[in-house]
Amino acid sequence: DMYMDRQNSLGRDYSQKADRDRHAAALARVDAERFLSGPLIEGGLGAGQDPRDVTNPFDRAQVIGRVSEATTEDIDHAVDMAQRAQVAWDRAGGTRRAPVLRAMADALEADIDRLVALLSREAGKTLNDGVAEVREAADFCRYYAKLAEKDFGGPQTLTGPVGETNKLVLHGRGVFAAISPWNFPLAIFTGQIAAALAAGNAVLAKPAEQTPLIAAEAVRLYHKAGLNPDLLALVPGRGETVGAALVSHPGIDGVAFTGGTDTAGAINRAIAARSGPIIPFIAETGGLNGMFVDTTALREQVIDDVIGSAFGSAGQRCSALRILYAPRDSADSLIEGLKGALAAQVLGDPADPSTDIGPVIDTESRQALEVHIGRLMKDAKILARATMPAGAERGDLFAPTIAEIPSPDYLEREVFGPILHIYRYDPADLKSVAGRLAARGYGLTLGVHSRIEAFAEEVVSLVPAGNVYINRGITGAVVGVQPFGGEGLSGTGPKAGGPNSLIRYASEKAISNNI
Ligand code: SER
Repeated sequence: DMYMDRQNSLGRDYSQKADRDRHAAALARVDAERFLSGPLIEGGLGAGQDPRDVTNPFDRAQVIGRVSEATTEDIDHAVDMAQRAQVAWDRAGGTRRAPVLRAMADALEADIDRLVALLSREAGKTLNDGVAEVREAADFCRYYAKLAEKDFGGPQTLTGPVGETNKLVLHGRGVFAAISPWNFPLAIFTGQIAAALAAGNAVLAKPAEQTPLIAAEAVRLYHKAGLNPDLLALVPGRGETVGAALVSHPGIDGVAFTGGTDTAGAINRAIAARSGPIIPFIAETGGLNGMFVDTTALREQVIDDVIGSAFGSAGQRCSALRILYAPRDSADSLIEGLKGALAAQVLGDPADPSTDIGPVIDTESRQALEVHIGRLMKDAKILARATMPAGAERGDLFAPTIAEIPSPDYLEREVFGPILHIYRYDPADLKSVAGRLAARGYGLTLGVHSRIEAFAEEVVSLVPAGNVYINRGITGAVVGVQPFGGEGLSGTGPKAGGPNSLIRYASEKAISNNI
């Protein structure tokens, strides 16, 4: 049974000296290394074009490595290799594909300290976030391996008329383009690839511009785990060039994308403009995520869960909490608690085990957040801002902020970073307040804190969401436990890490045999 024998990856515990020592050693090795990324096709790193340095978001003077962009010739060549190799990979069936994915999961875990160190240097991930990413990447591989065996291990027999046998067979579509974000540069990158591979496809993977180094490491690990290199190419580059070339390439048979809602719209239009077959588009995008608290909620629990959900990963999760709906009668006490808890958060170098909140991904993001703070200062109320540590100007640290907004309509779109908005609501107005959030059209995560079942049910019925969390934080979906993904402006589905994850990566063939 998929659920009973679930086994998720183990991690590291940085309260233990042995794990801290392992980390320090791995970090020193990573700092001594110059990472290289670029078009990685047939298992070899090509020259590409427009080489540039990749720097540490916490300290822009530190160069981590170098990346070059895939050319259109690189993409054509990778598609050609992938098309040839895909046929045998698909025919091999899920049972023979699964061991490769399991080997990848083992390889990720064996390399956890190095990957965590690189995640902190390239993507600004704290150690605990880094560990969670490696575990999630391994979980995706193992979970999809199991789905490969279950759904692609042989035909499903269907009942038909006497004398006729009816079978349903799932198989791969061909070559997938997998376009992934910088906020989970290992887990989502690895997971999209694992899903496409499990279903019998080959993959061209385009990592986010900000995080090409960890992506190259992941591709090398896949190859080391025994995957035929022709089945997986890395094609780094900008969305406007490499991304655009991929989604309009005639040899691409499907696109999996995780990233911003606007980019998903642009990809959708590019796919619509293609000639030839209509290809599937799997999009996982942003959210305008709310949490509704009532007066029966347990204050300390709410404070913990709100701080984790709004400021964990520097608020750079699509699942992160953006608007806390605090009931009029307990809002002041909640706000006092949140201010105290925010003041206790440690802002700093993500590679340091004591850091809670690291930098945001790049200067452009930081500046966009500062613009939003400017707006909040004008027509909302800033309640608290964390103090910046010394040396913050070396990189893109951004002071986590709590603000009270004057209207439930204040936010129109996702603001991607560590800014928590609080709206003080009158419980008598719950329907209209929740309705105004729903009207924004997103549908990713939703939180409720209450001890009254009827309150939770009402909120859930009023606000669309793909992932609902009652009396807990709203981030950190676990593969196989909380299949993750939204609806409306938040994505197309199917969810990642759930029993239906692979269906759109596959074609279905029904065979009615009267021999
Ligand atoms: N899957 C992540 C989470 O649940 C968000 O991308 O937090």
